[in-house]
Amino acid sequence: MRATHGCNAVWKTHDAASPTTMPEIVPVAWQAGAPLPPESLAILHRAADILHQGGLVAIPTETVYGLAAVATDAAAVARIYAAKGRPAFNPLIVHVEGIEMASPLVAEWPELAAHAAARHWPGPLTIVVPASAEVPEIVRAGGTTVALRSPEHQVTATLLKLLGKPLAAPSANRSGMLSPTTAAHVAASLGDAVDLILDGGTCDCGIESTVLDLSTPRPRLLRPGPLDRVTLEASLTCQIAGPETATTSSLLSPGLLPKHYAPNAALELASGGRDRVRDLLQAGHRVGWITHRHQANNLNTGTMPAERLHRLQLPDDPAGYARELYASLHRLDEIGVDAIVVDTPPSDEAWQAVHDRLRRASYCD
Ligand code: TXA
Ligand code: MG
Repeated sequence: MRATHGCNAVWKTHDAASPTTMPEIVPVAWQAGAPLPPESLAILHRAADILHQGGLVAIPTETVYGLAAVATDAAAVARIYAAKGRPAFNPLIVHVEGIEMASPLVAEWPELAAHAAARHWPGPLTIVVPASAEVPEIVRAGGTTVALRSPEHQVTATLLKLLGKPLAAPSANRSGMLSPTTAAHVAASLGDAVDLILDGGTCDCGIESTVLDLSTPRPRLLRPGPLDRVTLEASLTCQIAGPETATTSSLLSPGLLPKHYAPNAALELASGGRDRVRDLLQAGHRVGWITHRHQANNLNTGTMPAERLHRLQLPDDPAGYARELYASLHRLDEIGVDAIVVDTPPSDEAWQAVHDRLRRASYCD
């Protein structure tokens, strides 16, 4: 049974692909701060071969898993759009191993962009700069800019170094669905549309990178993420505008549609969701309820039907909450709940990225 949502009983339909065969998932051993062992390097050489031949490889990053192709191979990049069901107007982030690999892709480095890259790469910061002619049109979705990021995850940083080429990589999920934070999430969403999945464990940040537009003199936050605005303003010593509201952001960054990052079940935010949860349960629904750990003692669920209530408690700090958010939503989708109620998290700046993702996940169109 499906529950009625907060807005006009509109229900999201499950538009994910139904994978027929499972793709190959290869665990890659790695340790922070240490070079990769020889068996891991051998796997990465194989991945590099697949990429050189125009294939698609799912890669672990510190934010979420990406679906990668060589960025300068327009035919391979077209396969990314097809595998995801991604609209052609939505440009891709290009992943590089440091500033040197990024330079040929950039028409001109604005001073602030050079500073941001020097200060925050490798890490969860994507910067948008004027693109050079080396960036295929399909990667830019016809625009004049390119979004660049140098991931910190050792597996993907090493792969980029071995490959010697930049990788275009959106999140490795069907378009509009939740981003994957484990290799299993990738396989469930994309199936054998991906040639190889490199399993580098659970993503540390758990939500997508911060996207900062530095292509004009006025820095603008396009997508809040693990690096928050306060930190960026302090390190870049400038004011940063944005982000826009969910509805207008797509004008600036085509992928930032108001409805995005959505689980299958309708998700709604509620401040103190207990009453809403009880109503949904009384109406016979299976309910997922996401709360904070500090609320654990106040939530007397004694009279609620345990077999239809799935409560998940997330950490109280924004980084910890973000790390577990998508995994929790994936889990509730697997269980097959009808509705997800999320107790509204705190509203201060550090929670901005979490609020952004929850707003998009709860958007009714
Ligand atoms: O953490 C991340 O950023 C992950 C990992 C794999 O790196 N990638 C990711 O990619 O989230 P994707 O495609 O799911 O989201 C990229 C966002 C989209 O909203 C897209 O519209 C925006 O970045 N974007 C890409 N190129 C852009 C550009 N040239 N100008 C403005 N926005 C751009
Ligand atoms: Mg995405």
